[in-house]
Amino acid sequence: MMKKEIEICSGTGIISRVVFGDVGSGMPDCALAECLAPYPEVFAVIDANLTDKSSAAGSVYAMLQERNVPSYAVEASEQAKNMETVLGICSWLMDCNAGRDALVLAIGGGITTDMTGFAASVYKRGVRFAYVPTTLLAQVDASVGGKTGVNFEQYKNMLGIIRQPEFTYADIRMLGSLPYRDFLSGAAEMLKTFIIEDNGNYAVSAGVLKELHSAAVQQCRSGECEFRKMTLSDVMVKAAVEWDVLANLVAESIKVKAGIVSRDQFEGGERRKLNLGHTFAHAIETLARRHGDDLTHGEAVAIGIVMAARLAGLCPDIAPSHDCALAARLEADFTACGLPVRCPYDILGMAEVMSKDKKSEGGKVHFVLPCAVGDVRIVDLSAAEACAMLK
Ligand code: GLY
Repeated sequence: MMKKEIEICSGTGIISRVVFGDVGSGMPDCALAECLAPYPEVFAVIDANLTDKSSAAGSVYAMLQERNVPSYAVEASEQAKNMETVLGICSWLMDCNAGRDALVLAIGGGITTDMTGFAASVYKRGVRFAYVPTTLLAQVDASVGGKTGVNFEQYKNMLGIIRQPEFTYADIRMLGSLPYRDFLSGAAEMLKTFIIEDNGNYAVSAGVLKELHSAAVQQCRSGECEFRKMTLSDVMVKAAVEWDVLANLVAESIKVKAGIVSRDQFEGGERRKLNLGHTFAHAIETLARRHGDDLTHGEAVAIGIVMAARLAGLCPDIAPSHDCALAARLEADFTACGLPVRCPYDILGMAEVMSKDKKSEGGKVHFVLPCAVGDVRIVDLSAAEACAMLK
């Protein structure tokens, strides 16, 4: 059977591919083995938490071990997302005598893929790399588009490079053991892509996510499962949603991102739209760290998207073309999907943090403002101006 895939292109041709696992076929490790067949030397970097052989990621790991693929486990945390870990990967590649022909395969979430892509990009001035993302966030965002890097000083992803993976192997079955709250974090990024480019997928995905969330809530109420301990599989068992419906939405979301990256790989213009909700989200995440609050990236993005929709209605440049019911619609949808929508921090504190955003240029930040589902605009404003409007 033909493998389903999406190509990412630039002026010079195909620069990367996303290959999808087929839910109805054999296990992910077989399909991945096919993807790896053309590469003579493979070296695997894996999130240290994923080596348990009972999960899909564990079965991939076991397949690699059977094939004597050397592997290296990394701690996948924001604290460990630094140059020391990248240098550790490079030292290990040197110890293994990895040559210029090497393919470095990252298995894990976005932290693992970002660090591995960066290490492979600098090792011997750049060797090939590929990804097996094991979170929804990594499948629809981090593993597609070539952004690699690490945190530096107090800034997230301050050091890095845009360099494309040979391929990303996206398989919904890798997500079965994912904590449901982490799934929801990726779901916010998926909804984001459909607010940028709709094609009818926004309403479908919101409907699917609402169905999943009501199944999750029911399980919590009946005492069957604790919210924090629930996996996506636990919820899927009880929900009227088929795995291939979810797989199709993931593929549609990746298709939107792949199209944008194909048109603007290095974020000179259109790719900025993918930062929808993120200017607010980064400030919210910084304040959450300061207050010791527990908030996932996707939760911050959901709040940030709603703030951006409110700002769009207040911004004189675009308010006339803005759907005035949008912010309320997004709020209602996100809430029903299990995502937060209210910013827990004072808007003035947000302005102070946002003014230090590494993406601000000449005091202005590129705000991505949704006018309607499927219509977002980029407006340059200072953080103070934006927050004053929202006050
Ligand atoms: N995460 C946004 C981008 O890849 O451009």
